[in-house]
Amino acid sequence: MLARVRRAGILGLGASIPEKVITNFDLEKMVDTSDEWIRTRTGVRERRVAPEGQTTSDLALAAARQALAAAGLTAERLDLIIVATVTPDMPFPATACLVQERLGAHRAAAFDLEAACSGFVYALTTGAQFIQAGVYDYVLVIGAETLSRIVDWTDRSTCVLLGDGAGAVVLGPVPDDAGILAAYLGADGSGADLLKQPAGGSLLPASLETVKRRLHFIQMQGREVFRFAVNIMGDAAQKALAQCGLTFADVDLYVPHQANYRIIEASAKRFGLPMEKVMVNIDRYGNTSAASIPVALNEAFRAGRIKSGDIVLLVAFGGGLTWGAAVVKWV
Ligand code: ACO
Repeated sequence: MLARVRRAGILGLGASIPEKVITNFDLEKMVDTSDEWIRTRTGVRERRVAPEGQTTSDLALAAARQALAAAGLTAERLDLIIVATVTPDMPFPATACLVQERLGAHRAAAFDLEAACSGFVYALTTGAQFIQAGVYDYVLVIGAETLSRIVDWTDRSTCVLLGDGAGAVVLGPVPDDAGILAAYLGADGSGADLLKQPAGGSLLPASLETVKRRLHFIQMQGREVFRFAVNIMGDAAQKALAQCGLTFADVDLYVPHQANYRIIEASAKRFGLPMEKVMVNIDRYGNTSAASIPVALNEAFRAGRIKSGDIVLLVAFGGGLTWGAAVVKWV
């Protein structure tokens, strides 16, 4: 007989968003675009941008402190810290190590995980495994980004979409019938070129040439990503729900990756979910990549939109290509 695995659940949440706002009207002065185009095509009205000197680890740390306080735990209790990001403070050491030190989480192991906009769902799933296996008790999972640092502010097809922020959750053991009920992850490297930061790695190390050719900025083929997103979100959500014997009718709140309002709306329609059951904050923050789901989840929870026993569906997609879904029964 198989030994029963422990369940992992979310014990506390936190978020940190930079104060500086860039509106669509500000962008009208920077590139050839309009508030009307951005709002109707993406749903974004404004986004937050970290000022010079504010790093991904700064945002991650603030979100982590809030999540720990909400969970009623001190940093010394943490066994592991995972930071999902495509914008670490530097290629190495890991941003998770910088957070570990500043948090004073001296017992915790720490690593970064890169799955672009799916990073949080990947990290949540990874963190939960350690708890379910009985290896660790408390895992801090953070999604944190300063995308403004790798956005080409002269490229209207990407700069209108993205923003900065961080969200964090503390995972711990929970009663058998609650917590993360199921998760499903996927990837398709044949779509690697659709969304990337071409230079800065072993393929194209930083050089005067790569800087001159603007290869350190995000490049995206938006239309192709859009098409892929709606289909894959449905597939991932369905697989995760099926794993725990649930259907879309059981979902109390759908928290999708905030990439484009039209993608969110189309996926909700496909799931048969009314927009009242969908968490949307893309209008205020844009796409914050790995931070988008934990920031939205934190906001929904603090607004009283999630109560004990609720079924919360998290669905993400992003560069890689990657995708993932998780079903959480709120403790
Ligand atoms: N302002 C005005 N016009 C614009 C802008 C802009 N900001 N951006 C593009 N356009 C123009 C295009 O040049 C094009 O003009 P043309 O017809 O003369 O060639 C026209 O608008 C239509 O462009 P499309 O790319 O077809 O517009 P679409 O409706 O597909 O919207 C968008 C573009 C918003 C990028 C959409 O495709 C999208 O959201 N895709 C998904 C993006 C995404 O989810 N990315 C994932 C994560 S990002 C990350 O991982 C960090």
